[in-house]
Amino acid sequence: MLGNFSYHNPTKLIFGKDAMGTLVGELADYGKNVQLVYGGGSIKRNGIYEQVVAALEMAGKTVVEDAGVMPNPTVEKLREGVCIARENRVDLILAVGGGSCIDYAKAVAVSANLPADVDPWQKYWVDFDEPAADLDVIPVGSVLTMVGTGSEMNCGSVITNHETKMKVGHVFADARVFPKFAVLNPEFTFTLPKYQMVAGIFDIMNHITEQYFSGEDDNTSDYLSEGLMRSLVTASRAAVANPEDYEARSNIMWCATWALNTLVACGKSTDWEVHMLGQAVGAHTDATHGMTLAAVALPYYRLVMPYGVEKFARFATNVWGISPEGRTTEELASAGLDAMEAWMREIGCVMSISELGATEDMLEDLADSTLVMQGGYHVLTRDEIISVLRASL
Ligand code: NZQ
Ligand code: ZN
Repeated sequence: MLGNFSYHNPTKLIFGKDAMGTLVGELADYGKNVQLVYGGGSIKRNGIYEQVVAALEMAGKTVVEDAGVMPNPTVEKLREGVCIARENRVDLILAVGGGSCIDYAKAVAVSANLPADVDPWQKYWVDFDEPAADLDVIPVGSVLTMVGTGSEMNCGSVITNHETKMKVGHVFADARVFPKFAVLNPEFTFTLPKYQMVAGIFDIMNHITEQYFSGEDDNTSDYLSEGLMRSLVTASRAAVANPEDYEARSNIMWCATWALNTLVACGKSTDWEVHMLGQAVGAHTDATHGMTLAAVALPYYRLVMPYGVEKFARFATNVWGISPEGRTTEELASAGLDAMEAWMREIGCVMSISELGATEDMLEDLADSTLVMQGGYHVLTRDEIISVLRASL
């Protein structure tokens, strides 16, 4: 391994069927006022809300509810959350949901105590500034109900601005942004609609490939990535066959956390171009994050494969079990991507951006919204961005 890195992850994870039992104890470490963040109501239908409220009551907290966090949380909602946090002098933000709720909670956490004349969107998602050392960043805790983003154990926060048609992720360098704790009960994911479960599964796969498809040195992080991908493929098939397969759902949950808690990025330049393309599609269509990635991933990887062919060949053998025998390196590399495509179709990924609401006449605007990354095997030109998007129509 040739890269330099520092690794620090302070989030405490509590995992398994009994995880919720620890919430009261975790809450004891924080002040009285809790902002309870959740989404459009799934937690009220599946009983998780009652369990969380009971724990908050038992811990003697004063709760202010902040519901209605939408998938792909918006800058308008962020401003609303900031007002709630300020008015209620919140000591802890407890996010109960998926990546959208946790990302939003982090965004409120770093924004609530900014001076009134500082615009959080501009500061954090345009200028990529960090919170000042003396800024009071509100602690965030989470109860995870949707698996995929890894937000429960990372410093990322993705916010969408529909006015400027930008969906931007800021991975904060400030360790205060990591959730303090995350409660992970795989059973909480049983009620997810299949579409969301599959979107989450592809999100996990793509988080791993975004990091794996970079660099040429022999790196332990890549071996970890291969193991995670093999576990994910096995578990995804079992979960699609039986969504209440606890073992499969717990493996998917565990894979998701490790796919994006910075471990497998250690020593890697990392790519993230699929996410930039997917986020552009998301900014224009508000489509489900994981499906935007699924729709653009294969045209992108087929385009960059010649620039990193050895790694794609290794992917074919070490992740998909394809024998190198009788194949050129190029043929082996292609067979790996074909195997990934077959798996994606098998589990029910969306394979085109048209299915998500994108049209031919949007291609130029989508390209305008696509950030170009430098860390992968090939830096895309604008024409290549358009060609990837066109191939995904
Ligand atoms: O809002 P409710 O009613 O709760 O419904 C949600 C939502 O509609 C539903 N859901 C969640 N748990 C459920 C459930 N339905 C039934 N049973 C349950 N147990 O699922 C829908 C999607 O939830 P959401 O939180 O939006 O999904 P996800 O976890 O995929 O988060 C997506 C957001 O995270 C960002 C994405 O861009 C997107 O904005 N990301 C964050 C990252 C990070 N922090 O590092 C990295 C990712 O690459 C990603 O960009
Ligand atoms: Zn993602």
